[in-house]
Amino acid sequence: MGLVLGIESSCDETAVALVSTDRTILAQHIASQEAEHAPYGGVVPEIAARAHADRLAPMIAAVLQDANITLDQCDAIAATAGPGLIGGVMVGLVSAKALAMAADKPLMAINHLEGHALSPRLADPALEYPYLLLLVSGGHCQILSVEGVGQYRRLATTIDDALGEAFDKTAKILGLGYPGGPAVERLAREGDPNAVPLPRPLKGSKEPHFSFAGLKSAVLRAKESGEHADADIAASFQQAAVDCLIDRLQHALNRMTPPPKLVVAGGVAANQTIRTALENLATAHGMGFTAPPLALCTDNAAMIAWAGCERLALGQSDPLDFRARPRWPLDPQAEPVRGAGVKA
Ligand code: KG4
Ligand code: ZN
Repeated sequence: MGLVLGIESSCDETAVALVSTDRTILAQHIASQEAEHAPYGGVVPEIAARAHADRLAPMIAAVLQDANITLDQCDAIAATAGPGLIGGVMVGLVSAKALAMAADKPLMAINHLEGHALSPRLADPALEYPYLLLLVSGGHCQILSVEGVGQYRRLATTIDDALGEAFDKTAKILGLGYPGGPAVERLAREGDPNAVPLPRPLKGSKEPHFSFAGLKSAVLRAKESGEHADADIAASFQQAAVDCLIDRLQHALNRMTPPPKLVVAGGVAANQTIRTALENLATAHGMGFTAPPLALCTDNAAMIAWAGCERLALGQSDPLDFRARPRWPLDPQAEPVRGAGVKA
């Protein structure tokens, strides 16, 4: 059995976890920076980096203490090395390098998206490769064929906004504050999903990708028209988002032999309406469906430690001069899309 210390600091959560290769989370701490960023309606990179720098070291000490484990007993140190806000990523990666050096342990430089992509396997021991993954977070919206550790084929991505970003912007337009996803989902429960006519960008398109910028603009126009209740706008937005997800997944599934399981990961996977729609889609295609527990969907360090565990089992590690990467596509072979370079 192996033991991996994981560090996550690529956005606005500072997180540390200790996970074993037999899928036990021995200890984890997570500190959100919501309060620091809320006045600005979004994450401010400089504030985020400083908050990570203040919190990370004591948090590492606390996790080791909670688990009653010393650094010497860990088998590897894993940290997010990108993609993300570079200041925060560097705080986490440099801390991991220092620990790896001090304790003479291997370093695992983890792609944050790989953390999300493999997190369902931490929660579900029965989930085997390959699986079809919908990765929906604040920074990304991708369909991936997950074929093994380090083997990811990107089948679709967004040409403009990520879905979580669209949720956050909708929340801002409706005055719901930050972070927006959970607030929009709550308000949507009181609204009519068919009340406001909103576009479904790229629905039915021959290209496989997503687009959410036009939907966001339509939400703004609906709000400014003064003709609709906020709850109806929230519910109609959420329904439009679900319709786009299902249509694009359908497009991907029509072009492949469906793998045994459809899996969703990333912060937006916490959305219950989206989970239900995905489960129905999977059933219609004779596929099983897996969604990790909510705490593993939003950013956390257990998923980074787990990606480290998967790599440890394969005997992989990274050099101490590994560079932090603000952009880091999971599938470097994937063809560039319109708006390429905007989203990794
Ligand atoms: O994976 P994550 O924690 O961070 C990134 O890597 O981006 O995802 C955060 C995103 C935010 O945009 C947040 O609004 C969204 O996930 N989110 C939700 C829900 N919970 C979080 N979106 C829709 N419904 C939710 N319940
Ligand atoms: Zn994330």
